[in-house]
Amino acid sequence: MTSAFEIRPGQPDEALDIVTLNVRAWRHAYQGVIPDAVLDALEPQDRLVRWRDRLADQGEHGQVWVVRSGGRLCGFCWFGPAWEHLMHPPPADAGEISAFYLDPDHFGGGLADRLAGQVEAWLAARFDRSVLWVLEDNARARRFYTRRGWLADGARTPYPRPGCRGVYVVRHRWVPGPEALTSAAGAGHPGGS
Ligand SMILES: CC(C)(COP(=O)(O)OP(=O)(O)OC[C@H]1O[C@@H](n2cnc3c(N)ncnc32)[C@H](O)[C@@H]1OP(=O)(O)O)[C@@H](O)C(=O)NCCC(=O)NCCS
Repeated sequence: MTSAFEIRPGQPDEALDIVTLNVRAWRHAYQGVIPDAVLDALEPQDRLVRWRDRLADQGEHGQVWVVRSGGRLCGFCWFGPAWEHLMHPPPADAGEISAFYLDPDHFGGGLADRLAGQVEAWLAARFDRSVLWVLEDNARARRFYTRRGWLADGARTPYPRPGCRGVYVVRHRWVPGPEALTSAAGAGHPGGS
């Protein structure tokens, strides 16, 4: 892959690209994990306003970073301080990755590591630990996170989306190592590659 990737905070006018990629990634990655009927019913437009608001309101309380190459959206990540999920309070003073998605064309290309590295630097500059919730049977994502040191911490709860009975999410927890703490010095300034 020769084109450069730009990683930067997203803009409100990128919401449509984000929700389109989001639905495409769900249909690709969650097949067999989430019932087909739920995947078939996904509508990017249903998420548009929420994402436009999120993109318009970034700060220490939440960030949305995008990865673009040649004008095309290749991935995005939403992260910030941890919040309570489904009666599971977060660890004290923790950060969180709330959404992390690549376009399926980029799965396995190393882009997820580049984006995660920059997000982790931002988190490491602010929090002693961070968490994320992931579908229990999303083996690919769980392997990716585990390889990067995000380890399952035992929290598990039903996924509350209608039509998803029997589907569970689990929490993974990350404590920054020396490498992340070094990159944390430049955190808050995502860059390209
Ligand atoms: C999760 C995601 C960002 C990871 O990016 P990626 O480029 O696919 O990740 P990588 O290829 O670097 O790593 C995936 C790992 O899973 C492995 N893997 C691939 N397919 C797999 C499968 N079906 N089952 C189990 N492991 C699998 C890969 O070999 C790799 O492991 P390795 O590094 O030990 O070889 C990307 O797949 C994605 O956007 N998925 C859809 C959205 C999603 O699930 N997001 C997480 C929501 S919390």
